[in-house]
Amino acid sequence: MPAPVALLIAGLVFLLATPLTQQHEYIPFSYVGSTGPNKWGSLNQQFSVCSTGKQQSPVNIVKDEVVYNPKLQPLIRYYSSANATLINRGFQIGLLYGHGVGVLDIDGKSYNLLQMHWHSPSEHTIDGVRHAAELHLVHAADDGSLAVVAILYKYGDPDPILFQLKGYINELAKEICAGDEEAHIPISLVRTKQIKRSTRKYYRYVGSLTTPPCTENVIWTILGKVREISKEQVHNLTALLEPGYKNNSRPVQPLNGRKIYLYNEKHKN
Ligand SMILES: *[C@@H]1O[C@H](CO)[C@@H](O)[C@H](O)[C@H]1NC(C)=O
Ligand SMILES: *[C@@H]1O[C@H](CO)[C@@H](O)[C@H](O)[C@H]1NC(C)=O
Ligand SMILES: *[C@@H]1O[C@H](CO)[C@@H](O)[C@H](O)[C@H]1NC(C)=O
Repeated sequence: MPAPVALLIAGLVFLLATPLTQQHEYIPFSYVGSTGPNKWGSLNQQFSVCSTGKQQSPVNIVKDEVVYNPKLQPLIRYYSSANATLINRGFQIGLLYGHGVGVLDIDGKSYNLLQMHWHSPSEHTIDGVRHAAELHLVHAADDGSLAVVAILYKYGDPDPILFQLKGYINELAKEICAGDEEAHIPISLVRTKQIKRSTRKYYRYVGSLTTPPCTENVIWTILGKVREISKEQVHNLTALLEPGYKNNSRPVQPLNGRKIYLYNEKHKN
């Protein structure tokens, strides 16, 4: 299958956001044993900030300790429905977007939506509770700075975003059986209505990528409303991952004096 140029560009943009190897056979880190989260910093020089960094993610959000910040703005996101590519990177399942799919606006600065991917169980915890899954929407500004929006999921009804991708996820499962190195499925039109569903409450703090190289200065926005996902949807996502990545959730990291701010529409009125 010849890879269209657009796909190639999307892939490059993705690599820039999370510079990691693309090959399933060699992912230099895992979530268990001698290549597990506690060892990431010593696996590769480029990963050292995973252990030396003081602003790492994910973190535990303690509701009684978050700071209400009246200066925080409503979350402004413009996403349009677009073509995308579903990929299995071995350590996570993700969706790569082409250029110009959407923009997140934080304090007047624009961050373009590059990709989104799932973690299971959740990485951020709230009052110590680890939920069923977490979706990360990764955005980058023109100067390379990153902003991630996270959506937490508990078990319940099916999630409409994954429901929309169901057929493609089944296709992805078949590609793995065929032994593809980096299985990917082009998707003709991803509707983004559910992704940008408005939110009245969110948590904001400065942290890092939750996978190596654990790059810092990432602006995190964790939506306050925990959404629902079915057990079968989580099962179908994790079934595609390599052993050692089935639980692709990094343990929570110390805050080291960082504050977590709260935006709450209710307090505004
Ligand atoms: C999506 O891809 C199809 C086929 O490659 C193309 O015809 C269509 O214009 C694309 N749509 C968008 C919104 O980019
Ligand atoms: C889960 O995967 C199975 C096997 O591919 C498929 O039949 C089923 O429809 C999937 N369920 C969901 C909720 O995606
Ligand atoms: C997954 O990993 C997290 C973080 O290391 C751990 O707290 C949790 O117990 C693990 N969950 C399962 C189901 O193994």
